[in-house]
Amino acid sequence: MAEPTRVVCPGSFDPMTNGHLDIVERAARLFDEVVVAVLVNEKKQGLFPIPERLELIAEVTSHLPNVKVDSFHGLLVDYCTDHGITGIVKGLRAASDFDYELPMAHMNDHMTKVDTVFLATSPGLSFVSSSLVKEIVKGGADASGLVPDAVRTRLNAALGR
Ligand code: PNS
Repeated sequence: MAEPTRVVCPGSFDPMTNGHLDIVERAARLFDEVVVAVLVNEKKQGLFPIPERLELIAEVTSHLPNVKVDSFHGLLVDYCTDHGITGIVKGLRAASDFDYELPMAHMNDHMTKVDTVFLATSPGLSFVSSSLVKEIVKGGADASGLVPDAVRTRLNAALGR
């Protein structure tokens, strides 16, 4: 019998947006197991502490039984090797994402031969990013439709809205 396909959706997820969730939901339909893995970056603190990001991702993916949430330090390829993960799933919103992602995909392939699978972001979400969402909420706008409701509530609280 074939091995189950286990892939990772890595990122900062500060916080998870509807764009991220769309990619995770689609990966969960394509592959047997999906791990959403949050990079712990000591140099970049971000808005939400890592435990809160993990909690939010777990909450908004709780309808997906084959999705797990985790964090990792160091190289993504090492995390993949240690966890039997053979594919990295990334969303592409625009050509600029591709330009940023392709060298990483090639470097990861060079190091361990792990595959990267690019999914085209759903067109209605191609303008959504964590940084832009934080910026508009800071400025007083509403993030409905851009992030899951649970994330919107925490974002408003974190940014004093
Ligand atoms: O959401 P982000 O910040 O765009 O995610 C970037 C991430 C975490 C996927 C990328 O920076 C990464 O894989 N970092 C882990 C460190 C690593 O493996 N670096 C070498 C990449 S070739």
